Amino acid sequence: MFQASQNEQYFDEIVRRANDEYLVWVEQFLDIIEEHYDGLGGTQRLDDIGCCVGQFWKGLKQRQFDIEYYGIDVESRYINTALEIFPELRDHLIQMDITREIPDDSQITVVSATLEHLPFLYPALDHILKTTEKLVLIRTFLGEHTSKSIFMKKEASSPYYINQYSFGEILESFELHDFETKVLRDVYTDSMPKYLGQGIVRTQYLVIGNKKS
Ligand SMILES: C[S@@+](CC[C@H](N)C(=O)[O-])C[C@H]1O[C@@H](n2cnc3c(N)ncnc32)[C@H](O)[C@@H]1O
Repeated sequence: MFQASQNEQYFDEIVRRANDEYLVWVEQFLDIIEEHYDGLGGTQRLDDIGCCVGQFWKGLKQRQFDIEYYGIDVESRYINTALEIFPELRDHLIQMDITREIPDDSQITVVSATLEHLPFLYPALDHILKTTEKLVLIRTFLGEHTSKSIFMKKEASSPYYINQYSFGEILESFELHDFETKVLRDVYTDSMPKYLGQGIVRTQYLVIGNKKS
C-alpha cells in the first residue's frame, strides 16, 4: 500500500494539512469546476481518485455545489483517517486500486498527484476516461517524453514511482475517449521544474478534459 513508500513524517503532515490548511491545487480545481458549472446541469457525481485523507472534500464542502462526492484511494489507512477527520464521508469513501478496478460512472473526475505514482499510466487512465461523462481534471508530471523513476524515501519500507508522462500520450488518450483538452499551468508550482532528489526533476501541469457532446 502507498503509505509503505512514505514515512510517518509524511503521514503527520497530510493529517495536519487536512485539519489546518486549504490547498492551492484544490482551490484551482474548484475554480475550474465553478467555471464549467452552468454547463454541467443537475446533481453531479464527482470522483476524487487518490483522495488521501480528504483534502479535496474539505474545499468542495466549503463551496456548496450540488455535487455528490466520492473519494477513492488504495490506502486503507488514509481512508480510515479521512473518516476520523470528516465523519460525514461515511458511505462516500471507496477503497479501490485504480490500476485494477473501474469506478462507477461519474460526471466529474479529479485526480491530483496520483497518476505519476502508478507503475503504469494504463489501464488507470482508461478507467478514468471511460467512466467520466463530462469533465476530467488531472494534475500530474508531464513533459515532452515519458520518463519512469523510482524514489526511495528516508525511513520508508518500500520505494515508489515518480513518473513523468508525455503530453502526447495523455492528450491522445483524452482524444480517443472523445474529450476536448486544454493544458493549464499548475498554480501551486507555477509549472516550473523542481528537483525532487535522487536525480529526478519534474514539472506539474493540469489537463482539463471536456467530453464532446
Ligand atoms: C501523493 S498522494 C496525493 C493526494 C492528493 N490527491 C493530493 O494531491 O494532495 C497520492 C494518493 O494516491 C493514492 N494512490 C496511489 N496509488 C493508487 C492506486 N493504484 N489506486 C488508488 N489510489 C492510489 C495514494 O494512496 C495517495 O493517497
